[in-house]
Amino acid sequence: MHILGIETSCDETGVAIVKDGHTIVAHRVASQAELHSRYGGVFPEVAARQHVLTILPLIRDVLDEAGAQVQDMDAIAVTYGPGLVGSLLVGVNVAKGLAWAAQRPLIPVNHLEGHIYSNWVRPPDAGEDWQPPPFPTLVLIVSGGHTELVLMRDHGLYQRLGGTLDDAAGEAFDKVARVLGLGYPGGPAIQKAAERGDPHRFSFPSPRQPGFNFSFSGLKTAVLRQVQMLEREAGIRTDLKRRMVPVGASALDPQTIADLAAAFQKAVVDGLVQATRDAVEATGARHVCVCGGVAANALLRREMKAHMPVPVSIPPLFLCMDNGVMIASAGYYTWQRGIQAGWDLDVDASLMLPTQE
Ligand code: KG4
Ligand code: ZN
Repeated sequence: MHILGIETSCDETGVAIVKDGHTIVAHRVASQAELHSRYGGVFPEVAARQHVLTILPLIRDVLDEAGAQVQDMDAIAVTYGPGLVGSLLVGVNVAKGLAWAAQRPLIPVNHLEGHIYSNWVRPPDAGEDWQPPPFPTLVLIVSGGHTELVLMRDHGLYQRLGGTLDDAAGEAFDKVARVLGLGYPGGPAIQKAAERGDPHRFSFPSPRQPGFNFSFSGLKTAVLRQVQMLEREAGIRTDLKRRMVPVGASALDPQTIADLAAAFQKAVVDGLVQATRDAVEATGARHVCVCGGVAANALLRREMKAHMPVPVSIPPLFLCMDNGVMIASAGYYTWQRGIQAGWDLDVDASLMLPTQE
C-alpha cells in the first residue's frame, strides 16, 4: 500500500511516499528555518504563506522521484493538528483536493502520532534484520511544542504517564538560545556551542517534577538569572524585561556561553533520561522510542542508549524533524484501524494524543 503523506503543521513543508507504513519510496522537506530566524521564532502568517508556495512543487518533485502519479497512491494522509492553524489549513486543503481528484481515501493524522511512528519507518541504512519496536513500548516525545511520556500497548493505544507542566523541551532550547544570543532554531545552536563547553562550571536545577512530569520554565529562568548575574559582575547593563539577544551579540565571552549551553543541555538531558528510565521500571516496557525534534540532540541520543535497561530506538536525524514520511507511516496504521476522514475534515490546532487512563 502506497501512502502520500503531507505535513505542514509548523515551519517545515514535508511530503513523502511510504510503502506499507515502513519503506520510504521518496520524500522531501522544505524548511523555512532561515526565513523565520530573523524573527527569533516561527512567524505564523509567514509560515502559512510559505507552505502555499512550496507545497505543490514539493508534491510534484516527490511523485516524479517515485515515477508515480497521484492515481498510483492508495491513500492521502495529512496532519490535521496540533499546530499552527494557517499552516495546517494549507496541508489539509491540498490533501483534500488530491484525494478528491484521485478518488482516494483521506486519512487524518495527529502530528504527535506522526512523531511516534517515525520509529516504525525503516532507516535507509538498516540491515535485513531491522524490526519495528515491540509492544509495550515507552515513547518519549520531545519536540518544539510537546514533551510527553506515553506507554504504547499496541497501535493506537496510548497511556499518558506524564509530560511537561509548562514549556516543551524544544521550546526551552529555543528560549535559552535566544538569551545566549545563539539564534533560531535553538536546539542545534545550543548543541554546537555546548561541544566546547564545560557542563560542570554551572549547575542548573533538574526539570524533573513529581511523577513523570517536567518543568522547563524554571530551568530557563535559572539560566537567565545566571546570565544576568555574570553580566552584573562584569559591569554590563542588562535588559531585565525583554531578554532577547541578537545572534552573536551576547556581552558574555564565548567560553562562558559555551559553558552555560553545556550545563543547560546536561540538565535537560539528565532529567529526560532519568524520568524515562524510571518509567520503564514502573511499567515493565520492553522497549523505548524517542522522537520529535529534540531527539536529534546528540547528547540525548547517547545518554538514552547508555542508560536504558531495554533496547532504544531513535530515528535518523531527518526523521526527528517534522517530515512527511512519519505522517505517511502513521497514516498507514491509522488506516489499518479503519479510520478515514470525511470531506469536512477540519484542522484542530490543539489536538491531543488520544489516550486511555
Ligand atoms: O519536532 P520538531 O521539528 O517540530 C515540532 O513539532 O515542534 O521540533 C523542533 C524543535 C525545536 O525546538 C528545535 O530547537 C529542537 O526541536 N531541536 C533540537 C535539536 N534539533 C532540533 N533540540 C536539541 N538539540 C538538537 N540537536
Ligand atoms: Zn513536530
